[in-house]
Amino acid sequence: MTNVPRSDQFDDVYFSAEDGLAETKHVFIKGNNLPDSWLDKKNFTICETGFGTGLNFLAVLKLWLDSPKDKRPSNLHFISFEKYPLSKEYIKDHLSVWNELATSLDMLLAKYPIYLEDKNYILDVTDGVRLTLMIGDVNNNILLLENAVDCWFLDGFKPSSNPDMWSDNIFSNMARLSRKGTSFATFTAAGFVRRGLFAQGFEIRKVKGFGQKREMIIGNY
Ligand SMILES: C[S@@+](CC[C@H](N)C(=O)[O-])C[C@H]1O[C@@H](n2cnc3c(N)ncnc32)[C@H](O)[C@@H]1O
Repeated sequence: MTNVPRSDQFDDVYFSAEDGLAETKHVFIKGNNLPDSWLDKKNFTICETGFGTGLNFLAVLKLWLDSPKDKRPSNLHFISFEKYPLSKEYIKDHLSVWNELATSLDMLLAKYPIYLEDKNYILDVTDGVRLTLMIGDVNNNILLLENAVDCWFLDGFKPSSNPDMWSDNIFSNMARLSRKGTSFATFTAAGFVRRGLFAQGFEIRKVKGFGQKREMIIGNY
């Protein structure tokens, strides 16, 4: 892929240069056993660390839109933390490459603010799908969350350059907000992430990572 968004500050890409959408489907959708895990739920909450371009959100929105009404939650809530929000134009420029996401992208851009400051934005993207964007440092904002979470997308930049996104504070708050069985998935298999989640009561499984990546981890509380 060309035109892959990248952060110089964190020396990492926002998603795989091979194929970001295929990576999202492998790591976060399949890793959390979606859509099966939301089949019998009326309300379903996904929480993500790192909204970035919104690619993960759009893939989930597309999955929900394509699901029959009786096989999807009537209320899907996607909560995402972001400290350095990207502009509408930047998101449009970098996600327009995926034709299959065109409808979802239009829906997001219709509601995405022109300017984002450090506060929470509640975007009713379509009837039945709410996106809460918590702008600011995840380590502060996760303390404010009270919603029970059904599934976690851990998507900070790589742990070695973005350790704030992989802190014990996040792992302990994930445990506080999880139900028995709540799932998580992440592209990394870094040892301190595995140990940190395990210490908080998450069962950890190593599985094949996306593309060239040997391993990633998934699991349940
Ligand atoms: C790998 S990118 C996320 C990619 C995103 N999920 C997507 O679909 O495009 C990691 C994100 O974490 C954000 N981030 C880094 N440090 C953060 C912090 N301390 N608190 C909240 N967000 C942070 C970055 O700005 C970046 O958008």
